Amino acid sequence: MCSYKLRKAEPRDVPDILRLVKELAKFEDMEDQVALTEKELLEDGFGETPFYHCILAEIQGEPSSDGPKVIGFAMYYFTYDPWVGKQLHLEDFFVMEEYRGNGIGSEILKQLSDLAMKTHCRSMQFIVAENNEPSINFYKRRGAEDLSQEEGWRLYRFDEDSLNKMAAPTEE
Ligand code: ACO
Repeated sequence: MCSYKLRKAEPRDVPDILRLVKELAKFEDMEDQVALTEKELLEDGFGETPFYHCILAEIQGEPSSDGPKVIGFAMYYFTYDPWVGKQLHLEDFFVMEEYRGNGIGSEILKQLSDLAMKTHCRSMQFIVAENNEPSINFYKRRGAEDLSQEEGWRLYRFDEDSLNKMAAPTEE
């Protein structure tokens, strides 16, 4: 068992947030796709209109260390579904390997569920890589439904090139 506390991220946490974003991307074999910088994370999460929020898990650390150490996080934001209304979107969810299995992830999900209930969200949604079986099972044990399988939804994206083409002014 390890002693930890959960708290809301603050601007000073941006380096740790980026570190954990990269660790999760590495776990998913997609580390090279992380293009975001600390500057963008700072502007986007802590400006007048935050585009994301984070809950951090922190341990005290060794007496010889510099202080508390951030060992896990959840990045989330609110979205809107025109059929049912407010939804909480869980974007990134990660606990460092050596601290897994201590209930930290479950406690983070509990806090997010409390928040979803308090803000009258109708659901919490997230995307999981189909080869990430341990996490899929973790979510399923807590009642998650697989929307791709049950409702046939597929995830699409316009990349920057496609956006530029569509946005470019038409020639006269
Ligand atoms: N590692 C992982 N799981 C373990 C371990 C271990 N060493 N030992 C036991 N477990 C079991 C626990 O018993 C528990 O089982 P349960 O579902 O029956 O309760 C479960 O695995 C882990 O539960 P917690 O301790 O509450 O959660 P944890 O702190 O390990 O965090 C998380 C869960 C975030 C999924 C973590 O395993 C992780 O970071 N995984 C790798 C990254 C990942 O896949 N993230 C999710 C991607 S999807 C997305 O981001 C939206």
